[in-house]
Amino acid sequence: MLRFFYVKHFLARENHKLVIQNFVKMKRISFKKVAIALGVILVVLQFIRPAKNEGEAYTTNDITHTVSAPIPDDVKKILETSCFDCHSNHTNYPWYTNIQPIGLWMQNHVDDGKKHLNFSEYNTYKPKRKKHKLEEIGEEIKEHEMPLFSYTLIHTDAKMSDEQIALVTNWANAEVEKIILPDSLKGAE
Ligand code: HEC
Repeated sequence: MLRFFYVKHFLARENHKLVIQNFVKMKRISFKKVAIALGVILVVLQFIRPAKNEGEAYTTNDITHTVSAPIPDDVKKILETSCFDCHSNHTNYPWYTNIQPIGLWMQNHVDDGKKHLNFSEYNTYKPKRKKHKLEEIGEEIKEHEMPLFSYTLIHTDAKMSDEQIALVTNWANAEVEKIILPDSLKGAE
């Protein structure tokens, strides 16, 4: 009964009906337009080719020339697998990074990551910066901030086990102790 009343009431309001009909029509048109616009944007985006990071990971200034003792092989391997794509002069680009906007997104991470920490050029940093970055490495991986979560979703081999985290953290902390700063450089960063 209530239902019947509602339908009757609804149909009686011709305006109401018209408004709804127009709305549905408009929606269809705008959806089509939006879909076309998105398609065009996607096609145009494919022509954007961000400069790739494909230099040499190991240089005369890389991390292995800095540490006082040779960097242990297992630590080196972990850094290569879990960090070098964003923190060295050489990124291994999976095929899907040729598709935009995925490639642009990845490149943005690489450029940003390298700016903050570049293992290929670590030896060019001043002692205080070297020390600070080593401390940061331990902190970032311990708190699972690095490698970036979005990266490990696809690069599952970059995900670090507790054992790997302990290995790299212990190495980084031991190296921190070996960098002796002159008194003039001590103090807050
Ligand atoms: C997918 C890219 C990516 C990977 C892989 C990655 N990082 Fe990063 N990293 C970034 C970006 C981007 C930043 C800068 C923004 C931020 O701090 O979140 C950063 C920042 C950092 C910083 C902070 C530097 C500072 O003091 O400013 C440290 C330390 C760091 N990463 C260490 C690592 C280590 C160690 C690994 C490997 C275990 C790693 N990252 C893997 C992208 C990455």
